[in-house]
Amino acid sequence: MTDQLQVNRATFDEVMLPNYAPQNMVPVRGDGSHVWDQDGREYIDFAGGIAVNCLGHCHPALIQALQEQGQKLWHVSNVWTNEPALRLATKLVDATFADKVFFCNSGAEANEAALKLARRYALEVYGEEKDQIISFKQSFHGRTFFTVTAGGQEIYSNGFGPKPGAIDHADYNDLASLEALISDKTCAVILEPMQGEGGVMPATPEFMQGVRALCDKHNALMILDEVQTGFGRTGYLYMYQSYGVEPDILSTAKSLGGGFPIGAILTKNHIAEHLKFGTHGTTYGGNPLACAVAEAAFDIINSPEVLAGIAKREAMFREKLEQINEKYNVFSTIRGQGLLLGAVMNKEHEGRAKEFIAASIEQGFMCLVAGPNVVRFAPSLIVEEQDIEEGFKRFDKAVARVVAGD
Ligand SMILES: Cc1ncc(COP(=O)(O)O)c(C=O)c1O
Repeated sequence: MTDQLQVNRATFDEVMLPNYAPQNMVPVRGDGSHVWDQDGREYIDFAGGIAVNCLGHCHPALIQALQEQGQKLWHVSNVWTNEPALRLATKLVDATFADKVFFCNSGAEANEAALKLARRYALEVYGEEKDQIISFKQSFHGRTFFTVTAGGQEIYSNGFGPKPGAIDHADYNDLASLEALISDKTCAVILEPMQGEGGVMPATPEFMQGVRALCDKHNALMILDEVQTGFGRTGYLYMYQSYGVEPDILSTAKSLGGGFPIGAILTKNHIAEHLKFGTHGTTYGGNPLACAVAEAAFDIINSPEVLAGIAKREAMFREKLEQINEKYNVFSTIRGQGLLLGAVMNKEHEGRAKEFIAASIEQGFMCLVAGPNVVRFAPSLIVEEQDIEEGFKRFDKAVARVVAGD
């Protein structure tokens, strides 16, 4: 083997586009809920690669699936199908409302496919007048131009010229606001059952049920974006299962691959048939490596023990955060569900969430923000009890530093 090129954080600024601003350390190795950087420093990871590493880092079952598939078949394209894709699709169909699956490589691609399918369905079944897509303020659906325009944060979609049209935004958790926009011209309503990037904000049951009823009334499809909430994150395989409301199309990615890039949409037969041969596609979607890893992740996540363990861990997280808050009085509330939790800054610390992330890194702890006011936690769904203890000891120190103004 030739000597490897030496690189570090400074290399990023030299050779990478500046659309990211990575933290000032480079992770090189992970194991469960632990990560080590180039200097051998260890961190407890409750960021989970932004709600992706559902089984932590380097889970043995995922390594085995990757290695076994890696020695068999990596890629054939969708000119052929493959066994891992067919097995994974079968398992997803058996475990959900869906009859059919389309695979892609990311959350944005999944939502792009969902929105295109909804438009195609409405066009073919009702005619070209029915093209309106309704989304919600503060939502996030990805960074392709269609999905970022559907997203409810203009800061992400402005500055790229003319946007895709016929997209409107209602207020989240406000049925009257949706009712004011929806009509028989609406082709789809897209929403996250819990807004992730928008601040870890769950939909109320009345809102979810109301959205379903309004969609039914106006023959609009209900698209649930479960990219962040799906695949066990909230203690259910998919969060819709906790509301007793079924979507028409569901998008899933992030945790689905446990860290290997994969996305998918799930839908019913009468909708699926409108994505006819040749209407949509992707070279890599459903590739054998991604599907083999996702299947291994599915087999672990979709078990009563693992799903029940998420609620237990949630209780521990909430207790630890409440204890920290009693000491330092920094949060107004802890919200979320399962292991997607947000600690919301109180008035005194408004806009300071980012400072908690930087202070946490210094204490060997990784977490996320969700907007300027929320510290977000999206750890491994099987995070060990002792790692929760140790992680929050470190976070406690980080909070102390921020409060002291160090
Ligand atoms: C709810 C939701 N939808 C879509 C996306 C986009 O997924 P990706 O970054 O894989 O394209 C994200 C990413 O954060 C998300 O949280």
